[in-house]
Amino acid sequence: MIMKAYFRAVVSEDIPHIRKFVGEIGDEQDYVPKFIEQWLLDGDAVQIGVFQSAQMCSKDIVGFGQLRSFPNGIGWLEAGRISPQVQQHRLGTQLANYLVNYAFSHGAKVIQYNAWATRDFMGDKSKDQTHGSIGIANRLGFRVKDYVDVLSAKGSELNLSTIPNQTKQPNKLTIIPSAEAYDKISQILTPLPTEICHGWGYYLSCIPEIINNVGDHVTWIVYGEAIAQFIHYDPDLARESPIENELWIILYGDPSDASELLILHLFSYANSKLTSLENISVFCPTHLSSAIIPLGFHYYTEIPSGVALFEKHLD
Ligand SMILES: CC(C)(COP(=O)(O)OP(=O)(O)OC[C@H]1O[C@@H](n2cnc3c(N)ncnc32)[C@H](O)[C@@H]1OP(=O)(O)O)[C@@H](O)C(=O)NCCC(=O)NCCS
Repeated sequence: MIMKAYFRAVVSEDIPHIRKFVGEIGDEQDYVPKFIEQWLLDGDAVQIGVFQSAQMCSKDIVGFGQLRSFPNGIGWLEAGRISPQVQQHRLGTQLANYLVNYAFSHGAKVIQYNAWATRDFMGDKSKDQTHGSIGIANRLGFRVKDYVDVLSAKGSELNLSTIPNQTKQPNKLTIIPSAEAYDKISQILTPLPTEICHGWGYYLSCIPEIINNVGDHVTWIVYGEAIAQFIHYDPDLARESPIENELWIILYGDPSDASELLILHLFSYANSKLTSLENISVFCPTHLSSAIIPLGFHYYTEIPSGVALFEKHLD
C-alpha cells in the first residue's frame, strides 16, 4: 500500500523522536542519532522530516533524510531513514523524490547518493540487503555511476608476513601531504574518475581543493603506481567515518603495488596497534580485490559486495 506523505524541514523538537525511530531500525552504529544536532546547524545541508498527517507534529515523525549541496550544482542525498513500522510503503521513495525536486528548485544539476550493494545487484535484486536504497534508485531513474568493493578484516586476522613476493622496501613508501594528493592521484589514475571514493562517500574530483584539504584524519600514501587514503577515527567528524578502533583504507592504482602498499604500511604499525583494530575496511575498484584477499580480507557477505554510487541528471 502506498502511504501518503507530508514533508517539512526538521526542527530541534523533532530530534528525540528521530532518535527513537532510528534506534528501532536496530543498527547500533548508525551515525544519524549522533550527528543530527550538528547537521541542523550546517548551512550547506537541509534536513527533511516525513509525516503521515498534515499537522506534522514532532512526535509523529516517521522519516528523515538530508540533502547536502556541493559546488558545481551537485546535490548529495544521505542518511535516509524510514521508521521500521512504515517501511515498504513508498515513503522512502517519496522522500527521495521530494529531496530531488528540492535540489532541482535550488539549482542542482545532478543528484548523487551511495548505498551498500552486492556486486551483481543489478542482476539479482533478491541478494541485496539495502533493497530500499536500490529500489529507490531504480524507481526514480538513477543510474550506477561508480562501484567499489569493500573488504574487511580484524587487525588480528591479517596475514602480512607470509605473502609471496613481499619486498619490504619501506623506503619506497611515501606519505604525501594532502595538499599534493590531487596532483598525485591525477598522475596515477588516467583518466581521472569524476568521483574519488573516500569510504562511504565520494569526493568530486572537479574540485581539487576538497581532495587537498581533507584533514588530519586522512593519511595519503603512495607506492609505485598505487595511492591510498588511510582514514582514521576522528570524533569531531560529523559524517559517516571510521568509529573507534576502526580504520578505512581506500586504494586505487596498480593491483600488485596496491597490495604491497597495504602490506608495507600495515607492517609498520606496532603489533599492539594492529591487533587493537577491530575492523579494517578496504574500499577499492573490483580489479584490485583479488590482490587484497590473500592478506586476510573478506567481503561482509559470501557474495562480493561494496559501495554503489547512484546518479541522476536533473536537466
Ligand atoms: C532505505 C529506506 C529509507 C527505504 O524506505 P522505504 O519507505 O521502506 O522504501 P520504499 O517503500 O519507498 O521502497 C523503495 C523500493 O525498495 C523496495 N524495498 C524497500 N524495502 C525493502 C525490503 N526490505 N526488501 C525488499 N524490497 C524492499 C520497495 O519494494 C520499493 O521498490 P519498488 O518501488 O520497486 O516497489 C528504509 O528501508 C530504511 O530506513 N532502511 C534502513 C536504513 C537504510 O538502509 N538507509 C539507506 C542508507 S543509504
